[in-house]
Amino acid sequence: MMAVAGLFIFGIACKHEAAPPATVYFPQVKQIIQANCISCHSPGGQGLPVILTTDENIVALSASIKAAVIDPINPRNRRMPLGSELSDADKTVIQKWFDKGGTATD
Ligand code: HEC
Repeated sequence: MMAVAGLFIFGIACKHEAAPPATVYFPQVKQIIQANCISCHSPGGQGLPVILTTDENIVALSASIKAAVIDPINPRNRRMPLGSELSDADKTVIQKWFDKGGTATD
């Protein structure tokens, strides 16, 4: 019994040491967008024509999203979410995702 348990734990420990998983930011990015953006950027919302309800759109607009939440504002780049701002932690997630490539697997 003990020997079996020992082998089992050893197996898990080995697997864990083998390859530290690379962080995938996209799931966090989607959560941030769901919480802060889609109230306006969904079909029928006031943020049209920008729609952020699909993975494809979020990936296609990665540069615009990063610009809207982080880059200096100007008449063509308004701060989003409109009338507010993301937390520093959320901005960091968006920046890291964008720097990594801004795709659905980054
Ligand atoms: C209160 C409503 C509202 C919220 C919330 C909101 N937006 Fe917007 N957004 C707008 C409006 C309105 C526009 C301007 C659309 C137009 O006239 O082209 C816009 C435009 C944009 C644009 C186009 C570029 C620009 O700056 O005009 C992007 C990209 C964008 N929003 C991203 C986001 C992201 C990312 C979030 C969440 C972090 C967000 N928005 C949250 C209302 C909103």
